[in-house]
Amino acid sequence: MKNSRREFIKAGAIGAAVSATGIPLTSMAGEKDATPVRPLNILILGGTGFIGPHMVREALRRGHSVTLFNRGRSNSALFPDLETIKGDRDNGLDGLKGRQWDAVIDNSGYVPRHVQDSARLLAPNVGRYVFISTVSVYADFGVPNHEDSPLATIADETVEEVTGETYGALKALCEQRTASEIDADKLAILRPTYICGPGDHTDRFSYWPIRTRAGGEMVWPGKPDDLVQIIDVRDLANFTIDCVDREIDGTYNMVNANLYNMGKLLDDSLAIAAADVSPIWIDEEFLESAGVTSRGEFPVWSGANGYARVSTDRAVRAGMHNRPVRETARDLLTWWDTLPDERTAELRAGISPEREAEVIAAWKARSS
Ligand SMILES: NC(=O)c1ccc[n+]([C@@H]2O[C@H](COP(=O)([O-])OP(=O)(O)OC[C@H]3O[C@@H](n4cnc5c(N)ncnc54)[C@H](OP(=O)(O)O)[C@@H]3O)[C@@H](O)[C@H]2O)c1
Repeated sequence: MKNSRREFIKAGAIGAAVSATGIPLTSMAGEKDATPVRPLNILILGGTGFIGPHMVREALRRGHSVTLFNRGRSNSALFPDLETIKGDRDNGLDGLKGRQWDAVIDNSGYVPRHVQDSARLLAPNVGRYVFISTVSVYADFGVPNHEDSPLATIADETVEEVTGETYGALKALCEQRTASEIDADKLAILRPTYICGPGDHTDRFSYWPIRTRAGGEMVWPGKPDDLVQIIDVRDLANFTIDCVDREIDGTYNMVNANLYNMGKLLDDSLAIAAADVSPIWIDEEFLESAGVTSRGEFPVWSGANGYARVSTDRAVRAGMHNRPVRETARDLLTWWDTLPDERTAELRAGISPEREAEVIAAWKARSS
């Protein structure tokens, strides 16, 4: 089966397009010292979606001050005590004019024009700058990518519609536009893989422990040693604030550096879900013949193909820490159980129960 680049970036874009719901848990007070080198004023572009609140909380935990900039549509009651500048990244940046910050974190940039406009406006008045990008920027997922691997391009660079087709190339352009405005020694570009943990509104990683807990016969695609790359949102938040505190510049893939695969995902899901589940491993060829091959049906699984081999060396050298994935899975289940029934009634990713039963029946019947 070919795990196409299109499917991968589409999964990322779908996740990004769903509006955030639920109540992200307070960022875990990690193992780091809560005392910052010096308290800073940090502006977060966004800040009330999925990853933003974790960054806000980590920054506050370290003693920094945070200002938010957003339209006031998503989770607007989340941080009543913080200054929020209301505005739209699309031609609505007036509220940022004439203000100064020690650092900016752009975690809501998808359209190159928006990203460039805010970077250009803020450049003279800010210290450090962090742009949250994605591993979807790489041109080819059939190879193990490192930070200097070739990036996706788009024929028409004026395109602003973010789709599965355009997401990665537009984010690559966003990186370039930010770098054209911000001095290299002030700028960190972070490229996360699938971000998961409490508050994740995509349900991609969450599907696995939640489905495991439901029990019964469960399809596990491919082989136990098929690689999986994810990052806990709190580890991403920690490194993001480290970039500000420790003046880290450069480009970094943000991927849990501990080798992880589908077999370990099953072990972790079983360990935390304590369910009466019967895993049925089904090979890729059969799944392809059954027509269930998309990342939406088996999210975060990369098959035997290459895209779960993004290099983590540079981030580890720069001090990225990763908690065990079991902790990520456990904490997201705890968070999931706080959500209202209408949110948890149906997972936003993963094969449907009906389709899963059909695939299992076909798998069992294959040799009879
Ligand atoms: N989820 C993943 O697995 C994944 C993987 C790799 C990279 N990423 C990257 O992570 C980031 C996504 O983070 P997220 O899901 O937390 O946030 P998000 O959904 O992209 O952004 C939400 C935040 O941005 C604000 N916002 C959205 N549109 C705006 C606009 N036009 N003007 C001003 N503010 C706006 C929202 O508030 P209002 O609605 O109130 O304006 C909210 O605070 C993106 O940069 C994405 O590329 C995500």
